[in-house]
Amino acid sequence: MGIGTKWYRKSLLTVAGIPAVEKLSMRYGRKLAGKFIAGDTLAEALEEAEALNRLGIMVTLDHLGEGIKQLSEAAAYKEQYLKLLDGIAERKVDANVSLKPTQMGLALNQGACLSNIRDVVKQARHHRNFVRIDMEDTPHTQATIDIVRRLHKEGLTNVGTVLQAYLFRTEQDAADMIRENVNLRLVKGAYKESDSVAYQQMSEVRGQLKKLAKLHLDEGVYTAIASHDDQIIDWVKQYARDNGIDKSRFEFQMLYGLRSNKQAQLAKEGYRIRCYVPYGVMWYPYYTRRLAEKPANLMLVLRNMFR
Ligand code: FDA
Repeated sequence: MGIGTKWYRKSLLTVAGIPAVEKLSMRYGRKLAGKFIAGDTLAEALEEAEALNRLGIMVTLDHLGEGIKQLSEAAAYKEQYLKLLDGIAERKVDANVSLKPTQMGLALNQGACLSNIRDVVKQARHHRNFVRIDMEDTPHTQATIDIVRRLHKEGLTNVGTVLQAYLFRTEQDAADMIRENVNLRLVKGAYKESDSVAYQQMSEVRGQLKKLAKLHLDEGVYTAIASHDDQIIDWVKQYARDNGIDKSRFEFQMLYGLRSNKQAQLAKEGYRIRCYVPYGVMWYPYYTRRLAEKPANLMLVLRNMFR
């Protein structure tokens, strides 16, 4: 990451965290966020998922929510996920689900969070589906990994998590979880982390992401590479071609509203590609992370403002 990009990202996340800015944005910004959010309701999200499926794109659905204040909110989110899994099964949508551990209560009570996630994973297993636990910021990394490991030990193997290439610890986590055959999504990392725990330069983060992808592809563990970055996507394609790795052994993932043409093109080329589709009313933190990732995303929103 260049100094300019780093400054942009940190400033945007800092400004977005100011309560008055959040309040104003929640009031007036929903329409602008629409580009990145599939809708407020489950029905709208399932419709979008079906439209993506028609293009050969698989989906992961995220009922937005994070950083809750009371466990009763976690229980309500859990219920939403159970309904979501039923909805996917009923309408036969090619989709799994992604959830945030703090949405299920991780920051309040780890035991309760485990129990909520376990219920969701069991419901997913009932429908032969899969649950991805998104990775949040570093105070939650170890606890998230512990929950996934614990569920695997209980025989619930239809759950996986995410590893962030920017963290120093990730190489070790990857090696450990590959041994345990945990299905992982590999990303660069979206949170504001200090240089005591995370690589700060884009070139280093890209290098780490390629290293992780190589490790997974070499070991033959099914993996998801989630990035909009052509340098990463082209590298993975080339590495798979050079090493006779079948397209069925990995998938690409991208976010709803970003690089839609590229997503369709990858599907046409016969790659497995999954779109991360968020929906719901708690869109603000998700949305500000997207704006922080790229000045171009902010430009996109500003352009929409004047349409
Ligand atoms: P990045 O923003 O680093 O841009 C690099 C280059 O890619 C750009 O210079 C440009 O060339 C190209 N590019 C990027 N976006 C483009 C666009 N819209 N159009 C054209 N070119 C573009 N993070 C996390 O911490 N925990 C998580 O659980 C997840 N989950 C997750 C799921 C999925 C499906 C995705 C795609 C991403 C995440 N992330 C995440 C976010 C991730 O960590 C990261 O912040 C973003 O993907 C941004 O990094 P990229 O590699 O996509 O491009």
